Amino acid sequence: MRISLEDAVARLRNGEVVAIPTETVYGLAADATNDVALQKIFTTKQRPADHPLIVHISDISHVTDWAASFPEIAVKLAKAFWPGALTLVLPAKSHVSKVVRGGEPTIALRVPNHPVALALLKLSGLSVAAPSANLFTQLSPTTAAHVEAGLGVAIPVLDGGACQVGIESSIVSVSADGQWQLLRPGMISEADILKVVGSKQQIKVESEDEKTIQAQTPKVPGQHALHYSPRTPLMLFNNRANLIQESEVLMQAGKTCAALIIGEGNQPNCQVVQLTSQPNEVAEQLYGALHGLDALQVDCILAELPPNAPAWVAVLDRLSRAGYKG
Ligand code: TXA
Ligand code: MG
Repeated sequence: MRISLEDAVARLRNGEVVAIPTETVYGLAADATNDVALQKIFTTKQRPADHPLIVHISDISHVTDWAASFPEIAVKLAKAFWPGALTLVLPAKSHVSKVVRGGEPTIALRVPNHPVALALLKLSGLSVAAPSANLFTQLSPTTAAHVEAGLGVAIPVLDGGACQVGIESSIVSVSADGQWQLLRPGMISEADILKVVGSKQQIKVESEDEKTIQAQTPKVPGQHALHYSPRTPLMLFNNRANLIQESEVLMQAGKTCAALIIGEGNQPNCQVVQLTSQPNEVAEQLYGALHGLDALQVDCILAELPPNAPAWVAVLDRLSRAGYKG
């Protein structure tokens, strides 16, 4: 159900959930100070309660409503990239509800760079918690129609058009002593972040003492075996020739398939979505392409992985989590 900005504000104030556009993906929003409303996010998404939510704020002045400390490095990052596709995980103030924090001692904050999302935050005067507006582990939505396809047509959606970034924000945690760590890659790259903060990221230590370390390091998003996945099995290939060969094997065995390929070159003899070879364009179109291929209801989707290069880290991360190697 498509709703107006005013209706979305009224519903959020009333403790309801509303799907909202951001520049990355659509979010399923609720008043971040209302635990009953927050619970509706978890039930609608069928998301486990220990997965913390990102709180969307209208500007940098609201960070200290939520965060107990705002270290210099985090201030620099916020000033450089907000509004934008960067989420900062900071130590939480003690009054911040455990529901929004998923029980963590930290809080995730982001100022989205979407005119409709910003208008909603300003008009309502609220900060809204919003994970991606999809069922847990499924593909993130980048249009209002994707939200309705995943969560049902009864879900109220504020339609802000197709998302321009197309994949979820980069998540950076910054501890009170200024150590930082990239928890989820996004289109703001590790190199972009390094340029702003000037100091290296905290190295993840792998040792026998793993339990203690796990207890100390922040939770890394999307660690489930399959995350961001279509319903159709998705096979991933580093090499176009192998993808084409697999499509032939499948078709000879009487199976149907469709393919996602990146850039020019030979194509398999099945339905194909060809994306460009520009990382930003592929990110923008990735989930739309996968939603479209999923809707074909073939036996298998075959997807080509982008090169293992810095500009492709985020796209590679999402595709790798969505499927398995062919
Ligand atoms: O681009 C985005 O980030 C989108 C839009 C809607 O803003 N949101 C999004 O939310 O991707 P979600 O819930 O699908 O992913 C948020 C991730 C979760 O996987 C969660 O683990 C991580 O953020 N997260 C949230 N709070 C955290 C915290 N306190 N510590 C570590 N990770 C946190
Ligand atoms: Mg998500």
